Amino acid sequence: MTTEQKALITATVPVLRENGVLLTKYFYNRMFTHHPELKNLFNMGNQKSGKQQTALALAVLAYAENIADPMVLLPVVDRIGHKHVSLDIRPEQYQIVGRHLIASIQEVLGEAATPAIVDAWSAAYQQLASLMSGHEATLYQHKAATESGWTGWRPFIVQRKVAESNEITSFYLYPADGGNVTTHLPGQFISLRTFLPELKLNQSRQYSISSEPNDEYYRISVKRELGHQLDTNGMISNRLHDHVNVNDKVEITSPSGNFTLANDLDTPVTLISGGVGLTPLLSMLQSLIKNDHQHPITWLHGCRSENVHAFKQHVEDIAAEYPNFSHYTFYNDPTDANRAAGIFPGYLDIAAIPQLDLDLNGHYFVCGPAVFITKQYEDLIAAGVNKDRIYFEEFGPQVLSLN
Ligand SMILES: Cc1cc2nc3c(=O)[nH]c(=O)nc-3n(C[C@H](O)[C@H](O)[C@H](O)COP(=O)(O)OP(=O)(O)OC[C@H]3O[C@@H](n4cnc5c(N)ncnc54)[C@H](O)[C@@H]3O)c2cc1C
Ligand code: HEM
Repeated sequence: MTTEQKALITATVPVLRENGVLLTKYFYNRMFTHHPELKNLFNMGNQKSGKQQTALALAVLAYAENIADPMVLLPVVDRIGHKHVSLDIRPEQYQIVGRHLIASIQEVLGEAATPAIVDAWSAAYQQLASLMSGHEATLYQHKAATESGWTGWRPFIVQRKVAESNEITSFYLYPADGGNVTTHLPGQFISLRTFLPELKLNQSRQYSISSEPNDEYYRISVKRELGHQLDTNGMISNRLHDHVNVNDKVEITSPSGNFTLANDLDTPVTLISGGVGLTPLLSMLQSLIKNDHQHPITWLHGCRSENVHAFKQHVEDIAAEYPNFSHYTFYNDPTDANRAAGIFPGYLDIAAIPQLDLDLNGHYFVCGPAVFITKQYEDLIAAGVNKDRIYFEEFGPQVLSLN
């Protein structure tokens, strides 16, 4: 890109800040009109709620703001890249997205989109597309080179289905071809694809692996999304709960994601979960215990009530056996019996636990709804924890930019 083109991109930052979501909404409508088959690839729930349009607008804005040195965006490129490879996005699809993004800029900005601005954005898009697809190529190569690794969609059979609480059910997934699976890094997720008769579309969703790393199967634990307030039912989670049973087939991609526990972590570890956000942390906990982690491990969990508290007994069993593991639980509305058993009332609040020793050398892994992550992140920072020690995962397109 020329210096003049970079200056033109910088000049469009205020417009993107103001109208980014308008632009990306227009873009997705345009792209789906020309390529309805891409509706099979995108999460139509995230399209309706606007989360994906917001995530894309934030990414495009961050790119424009850093056009002088896009390399600073590598952590973001890595995070998006893990999501893309988990959905088997391929380089040729970047040309389709590019065509509709540039056309959308022209159509939304109208006369303000001068030929020079359109040229600058075309060059900027090509630069970003090659940065992203290049990074994704290395992620695909890594998958292909890993033992029992694979790229793209592979059929799996549900061999066990286990209710873990009133609303969370586990599915034990084994390869339909009888082969082994790649041993995942604790914290990683898979994408699962199934056909939705209501939409007449394939739809994919990500699920964190809740089992301990092994080479035979993956366990995912899915919360039934009832969407009471919005009067809409979660499309895939309800399909899994109600229609996907033992011996049924689903397709999944190999484990992706960079919200992971480093193998050589030699510090205390604190896991903080809200609701179904406990799934990646459970895999981390099991892995730490299996590897005989030599530092304190602490788990803080918050959920609405005992009825929806998944894996309660399992975590208590681990605590009974391993003295360096402690755990604290919050219920929104605990019963007298819960309180007597040491359950804290209300929303998870680190300041409410007198015994909690927040080691500033430790690593902190947070997973739950966006408001939950934001509160825990801010409270940890206020308690003196360095932001580099806090890792978080949102169960949807990332719209938080905390660190
Ligand atoms: C990395 C990652 C890991 C994840 N791990 C897990 C996990 O371990 N376990 C788990 O249960 N989930 C996990 N998720 C979430 C999961 O991918 C799905 O998002 C979840 O199961 C809901 O999917 P759904 O198809 O049932 O709901 P969707 O149909 O996608 O709906 C999602 C929500 O949006 C609402 N909604 C639907 N339609 C509309 C509309 N028209 N307007 C407004 N709102 C609407 C629904 O009520 C619902 O609450 C993870 C997500 C990510 C990104
Ligand atoms: C430069 C180009 C692109 C940018 C900036 C971009 C950006 C993003 C971002 C920010 C997300 C959300 C990531 C998260 O979960 O936090 C995302 C997800 C996604 N992207 Fe891209 N992307 C690009 C190209 C593509 C292409 C070429 C395709 C394929 C047609 C694609 C398909 C998807 C899909 C299917 C998702 C998941 C959507 C969902 O879960 O709702 N993207 N992308």
